[in-house]
Amino acid sequence: MKKFVNVKLKGKKELVSILTENGVIKRIAEQIPEECETVDIGGNLVIPPYVDPHLHLDYVFTADMGEQNGSGTLFEGIQRWSESKGNITVEQMKERIRSGIRKEMLHGVQAIRTHIDVTDPDFTGLKAALEVREEVKDMLDLQIVAFPQEGMYAYRGGDELVEEALKMGADCVGAIPHFELAREFGEKSIHKAVELALKYDKLIDVHCDETDDVQSRFLELLNALVLMEGIGTRTAASHTCSFGSADNSYAFRMMKLFRKSGINFISCPTENIYLEGRQDTYPKRRGLTRVKELNDNGINVCFAQDSMSDPWYPLGNGNMMMILDHGIHIAQMMSPEEIRNALDLVTVNGAVTMNLAEHYGMEEGKPANFIVLNAKSEFEAICERAGILASVRRGEFLFQKEPEKVKYYVSM
Ligand code: FE2
Repeated sequence: MKKFVNVKLKGKKELVSILTENGVIKRIAEQIPEECETVDIGGNLVIPPYVDPHLHLDYVFTADMGEQNGSGTLFEGIQRWSESKGNITVEQMKERIRSGIRKEMLHGVQAIRTHIDVTDPDFTGLKAALEVREEVKDMLDLQIVAFPQEGMYAYRGGDELVEEALKMGADCVGAIPHFELAREFGEKSIHKAVELALKYDKLIDVHCDETDDVQSRFLELLNALVLMEGIGTRTAASHTCSFGSADNSYAFRMMKLFRKSGINFISCPTENIYLEGRQDTYPKRRGLTRVKELNDNGINVCFAQDSMSDPWYPLGNGNMMMILDHGIHIAQMMSPEEIRNALDLVTVNGAVTMNLAEHYGMEEGKPANFIVLNAKSEFEAICERAGILASVRRGEFLFQKEPEKVKYYVSM
């Protein structure tokens, strides 16, 4: 048994203690008399681990691999990746995937959903990701999406490659309808994704309407299909940028249907504010989906990193606090209540999206997985963009960090 004392939990005024046994939270109470190994958390905020529900681990640190993405658009990014991806070995891929995971882990992430490009008959990325998923399983939950980066139909045989990837062990079906060569092909890819999810009992995560084109409405079809099949909660719509440009009366109608299906939304604020609005002059769109309005309508929405230095986005380091900080600014979510609940956007909402919520959270009987922030309250955490002091997995430290020390040369 182990006891973590002087713990500040979200929404609780008094400090509490957490007793863990065999990697599980046994008790949470203000006083726990049991004599056992004791760790003093110093009144800092303890929250469930960060979740990154959308990351391309096969692309990390490839920004310098080929020609640069001069236009800064999504579509040139796809072209640049396509030109250079054939030169990578499984071993090289594994090394980069590991380094991406290491970076996220050191920022307190314990669950990642990664999209792996399967429009590659050699399955280089998928083979690497499947092996690494096994390697890191005690450190974090890694979900793999069979993602047809170059299209299910724009890439010949792409749909068959997605199916094969699911048989090989991918957890989720992906699609990229706005990249298919015609609207009908995009719609066909959504039908196919749902069909495959049902056939192989997999989750769904579609790169959906990642464009400012208001005519891009694949989200509507995806939502309708998963609603009819009753698998909305097992489905995620990533990006949905065009929904941020849609007409209000259309959005109003759709909100009702999203609530009905239980579909989850993933927004990548740093990525999409960088990639979208590129054809606009001024006023220039933000390129984000309606995060605030989805949240206000009780629809599950979360934030994700998406890229770490790849042909789509030159920066990114797995720091979810930075993603959150950008996200709440761009989505204008800073009422007192929104600030109080902001951390949900990079923790529990992501876990719900990944269908991990059953084993996630600061509750008795759940795995003792949590992180310690360098802050005494939710407000301080958000206002100071607080860093991580420790990450605990199954009751054991994955790492601890020293808080920043300042040597003053003036009187303060
Ligand atoms: Fe993505």
